Amino acid sequence: EKGQYRHYMQKEIFEQPTVVAQTLQSYIRPLEQQVALPQMGFDLESIKRITIVACGTSYYAGMVAKYWFETFARVPVDLDVASEFRYREPVLEPGGLALFISQSGETADTLAALRHSKENDQKIAVVVNVPTSSMAREADLLLPTHAGPEIGVASTKAFSCQLAVLAALAAHLAVVKGKMSREEEMDVVRHLTEAPAALNAALAYDEAIADMAHLVAPARDVLYLGRGPDYPLALEGALKLKEISYIHAEGYASGEMKHGPIALIDEAVPVIVLAPSGPLFEKTVSNMQEVRARGGKIVLISDADGLAEAGEGCMATIEMPRVHPLIAPLVYAVPVQLLAYHVAVAKGTDVDQPRNLAKSVTVE
Ligand code: F6R
Repeated sequence: EKGQYRHYMQKEIFEQPTVVAQTLQSYIRPLEQQVALPQMGFDLESIKRITIVACGTSYYAGMVAKYWFETFARVPVDLDVASEFRYREPVLEPGGLALFISQSGETADTLAALRHSKENDQKIAVVVNVPTSSMAREADLLLPTHAGPEIGVASTKAFSCQLAVLAALAAHLAVVKGKMSREEEMDVVRHLTEAPAALNAALAYDEAIADMAHLVAPARDVLYLGRGPDYPLALEGALKLKEISYIHAEGYASGEMKHGPIALIDEAVPVIVLAPSGPLFEKTVSNMQEVRARGGKIVLISDADGLAEAGEGCMATIEMPRVHPLIAPLVYAVPVQLLAYHVAVAKGTDVDQPRNLAKSVTVE
């Protein structure tokens, strides 16, 4: 039950440190400082190409994972939303790995894409939260998330657990492919192990985010910007906001702003910028300054260093713990979830049962 919480979504956001830790237990050997996967009926080392297919929030987890598979393991990745996948007649070379990501394990388009891939000689890996689901049963490699039942229609804790599993999978693939040294693997394990505490630290800003929700609640349109692995988080932030608060929101790669969307900027459009310190920080900030120069009202989400450097002149700032870029997408999921949540509460919408949406989409 909801216990001390007002909504399931809020409860599930706050469960993230616990369920991510639980999930990681199945994918990390702490004593050996190794990533580990369940048994699989094929040789992972022989995989030459990965095709990732999912819908909605699970698709955004896949989008983050594409960066990891390519940077760690140097394996090329195709990525599709499930409803588009079969119809573009994808080229599936025998021996490829097709990876499906789903909370429910029943999403009709994702399941159809899985079956299509199986018919085309792909090995089937599934990251899924419901272990008894159709997708779980049809997998060659079953990678469960241990998020527990997710009741709020907007996916939150399933997403962070998907990211945890995908990071471990990408690191393991890199190890078996000889692209990741022992030291690098130990670093990945260390950073992943730090994720639950970092999620807790991010949750500590709940009240501060609640206090600034009134700045976003009156908006008709909101933009979210991010770069690299935080670009999918911008898309996820926009999806969360539109589905539960009914405010029109778009996520953009921050470098794309000047190719069109910057024309939308005025004082009435809040722009949420996701910019953890790291190799992409300066570039994102310079895109943010372009927005500010046109009167845009910015909410900057960064760590103490980032806010010290670029926080001045923003409408609001949200401080995140300073984390390694690997776990930034997990940690930055928290403020975008909380912002959507508090804006929806401020607007009085039905947070757990948004209009027109179902928890499990079993029609194509
Ligand atoms: C967004 C949301 C949906 C789902 C999508 C896929 O908050 O919940 O976008 O992520 O319908 O569902 P699953 O992961 O069950 O395949």
